[in-house]
Amino acid sequence: MTLFLETNIYQFFGRFHTMLVHLPIGFIVLAICFELISIKKKTDFNLAISYAFLFAALSGVLSVILGLMLASDGGYNESTLNIHKWTGISLTLVSFVLFYVKRKQALVLWAKKSYPILIILIVGLLFVAGHNGGKLTHGSDYLLEHAPNSIRTLVGMKPVRERVTDLEEALVYEDVIHPILESKCNVCHNSDKAKGELLLVDAEGIMKGGENGAVIVPGDVKASELFRRITLNPIHKDFMPTEGRTPLTNEETMLIQWWIEEGATFEKKIVELNLTDRTKGYLKEVGIGLEKTFIESLELQRVHDTIIASIKAEGFKIKTVTNNSTLLDVSYSPYTKTLLTGKKMDVLLKAKTNVVWLNLSGIDLSKEVISKIGGFKHLVEFRASNTNFSNTDVKQLENLRYLEYLNLYGNPISDASIASFTKLTSLQKLYLWKTNLSDEGLKSIRANLKQTEIVSGI
Ligand code: HEC
Repeated sequence: MTLFLETNIYQFFGRFHTMLVHLPIGFIVLAICFELISIKKKTDFNLAISYAFLFAALSGVLSVILGLMLASDGGYNESTLNIHKWTGISLTLVSFVLFYVKRKQALVLWAKKSYPILIILIVGLLFVAGHNGGKLTHGSDYLLEHAPNSIRTLVGMKPVRERVTDLEEALVYEDVIHPILESKCNVCHNSDKAKGELLLVDAEGIMKGGENGAVIVPGDVKASELFRRITLNPIHKDFMPTEGRTPLTNEETMLIQWWIEEGATFEKKIVELNLTDRTKGYLKEVGIGLEKTFIESLELQRVHDTIIASIKAEGFKIKTVTNNSTLLDVSYSPYTKTLLTGKKMDVLLKAKTNVVWLNLSGIDLSKEVISKIGGFKHLVEFRASNTNFSNTDVKQLENLRYLEYLNLYGNPISDASIASFTKLTSLQKLYLWKTNLSDEGLKSIRANLKQTEIVSGI
């Protein structure tokens, strides 16, 4: 029986609970669906329904047994576990009762009367058991974890603090250490499932430590149990995270070391600690202190609603680049019946500092319209495929210093435009497919724009 000694057989079977528990749920839902159909179609599904309840009850028994085995390992929030356990057991019992009552429903009055009550009861139990099971597996705030802040505050949860990634501003615990623990450790070390009696979700839990006492000794990594656990050989039984979960990356481990050495503070900013270039490199790996892109660095006033409305009235589609952005994404649909005129462009120019994406693909562009495009100094993406850009027109784009994406697919441009393209040094992507550029011409653009990916069909 070495198998029993070496491994925890309870745990081995217990783990199947989380999977099998969906079976009774499925049968109950199926029974209720059949019930609704039979009411609607006035047909009799009684036999099928009662058997669905029987299968729910039988698979429920198995789930309960496996669940008790899983719980025997401990480390779960007791009250959540109790609610989950007893609602789960009740659910199984009510399923047996429903199996019986459903068969009698047509024959005896008490069965007919109690049936709808039992259905309501089982649905209620299903929600409570399921929700608490979710809490045990994913943590107590799993349901609203990704809810918008307005909903979180409404139910009394702490609003999510947006992670600061600016090196000067970021906090060492909130923006560096907490996200690491959150992604790699806290499925098992939260208030509903505190494995080793250790909570790693906040300062209090981290400093309190686990069943064997403190896990962090500020300033002393060697004495910090948490650090020992993450730096062991991954096959060691004490290695964290357990169960083959994704271990910390080297950079994450080094950052935790740095944080402990620097006194394991919870309030300070990164820049208040000793910061070497090497640490800065690790911080970059977790997304702190990266250079901002041009768009991210733009801080502009919001364009007034009346201006937006006047632009819309000219037939443009206009929206913000992301939900709360002040930057604008504008297009003019080729299916718009009216021609795009210089006057319409003048209206759009009222928002010129905010327009970063512009799409005029498939539209007949007059010289006048094209002459205005250079006015959108902050353009980052410009799409004008299948229009009538000529060599001289490309010249109008020369001043767009921030242009990263340019699509001139299917335009009558030729080698005379090469000089203009070579001035667009911010370009990351350039589409020149189906133009009149010669192979030599494309080669010369490629030689000048080494950083740019050029899509030309050759
Ligand atoms: C899959 C679940 C799981 C994950 C993920 C996990 N742990 Fe654990 N952890 C456990 C279990 C179970 C124990 C108790 C058994 C033991 O001490 O090894 C434990 C115990 C610990 C202890 C010892 C507490 C004490 O006082 O004995 C520390 C420290 C620890 N974990 C740190 C971490 C860190 C840091 C991470 C993330 C890198 C992590 N754990 C991720 C399951 C997990």
